[in-house]
Amino acid sequence: MGTGNDHACHQWEAEDPEVASKVRESCKVHTGFWSEEACAKIEADIESLAVMAKAGHFREKTVDRTPLRSKYFFGYGYTYGSQISKKGDEQILPPELIDPVPDFIYDKLILPLEEQGMVREGWINSAVVNDYRPGGMIVSHVDPPKLFARPIFISSFFAEGRLVFGSRFSFPNKGGPPHTTAPKCICPMPRGSLTIMDGFSADGITHGIRPQDLEGRRVSIVLRHVFPNAPRLGQMPSTLDMRQQPLLSCNSEPLPRPSSEQAVAAGPKIAAEEIDEFGRRRPARGAGDATDRQKAALARLQGRSRKTQASAPRSRSRSPQR
Ligand code: OGA
Ligand code: MN
Repeated sequence: MGTGNDHACHQWEAEDPEVASKVRESCKVHTGFWSEEACAKIEADIESLAVMAKAGHFREKTVDRTPLRSKYFFGYGYTYGSQISKKGDEQILPPELIDPVPDFIYDKLILPLEEQGMVREGWINSAVVNDYRPGGMIVSHVDPPKLFARPIFISSFFAEGRLVFGSRFSFPNKGGPPHTTAPKCICPMPRGSLTIMDGFSADGITHGIRPQDLEGRRVSIVLRHVFPNAPRLGQMPSTLDMRQQPLLSCNSEPLPRPSSEQAVAAGPKIAAEEIDEFGRRRPARGAGDATDRQKAALARLQGRSRKTQASAPRSRSRSPQR
């Protein structure tokens, strides 16, 4: 029965009309953004990620596999979920534990967005690939605003997934499916779509994906700008917070970086050589002023990574693939 928005929500689930309209104003789903041909090529590249992961070709913290989904972090990784003690404590991982953005993601996803003027060149510096198997999910959350600029770009492959807003997840049965409250808004993201989350949809309400929102195996590629001065694991909170500066919008011209002297002027007791190129205070050698808790977390992360650190960081290639 056509009620006008049957396509946008499950028939039996009533949305909250006011919330849903605020979400739809700020979360745009561009269906058919990636052509059939583009989807097929990108999906073949995604398959090769799983092969590389199985063969152990990625760095320690690039891949996080659970039975119902695999997550790949490129460019930047961060602590999340049970790795953090409370929301808002998310931190960027040491860069040597994470692989750079793969060429196929740059060539086939980021470059087209840059060429269409949707983002400034170089703005997207992180890519997360979520590979959901049937029964998989992502618990409702807000992408940590201390780590990620807005907007957030989500591309969908293999099958449709629905992004649900304002649904609370709980886990009454350990290891079993979640109990979820009715979403206030449901946004279908078909294969080949590009979803752009900003404003209210990104900051004013949680989003997630329930098991019933996946029409089979689905892979999303989430493209974001990580604030390079975001909190880092093993680093004391900075006395200089660049985020207090006016934010660059994703497609504005780059602002010149403040010089070390300007950064020093903002924080009187810090010598120029202690400030890095992003205006952050350099961590003392050996993370000497990290708290014991941070040092323990860093040691845990690095403990199993010695073998995978042999390869030097590869610089990002912008050349088109052969
Ligand atoms: C995320 C996220 C949604 C998706 O990774 O933060 O919200 O479609 N993903 O996978
Ligand atoms: Mn998210």
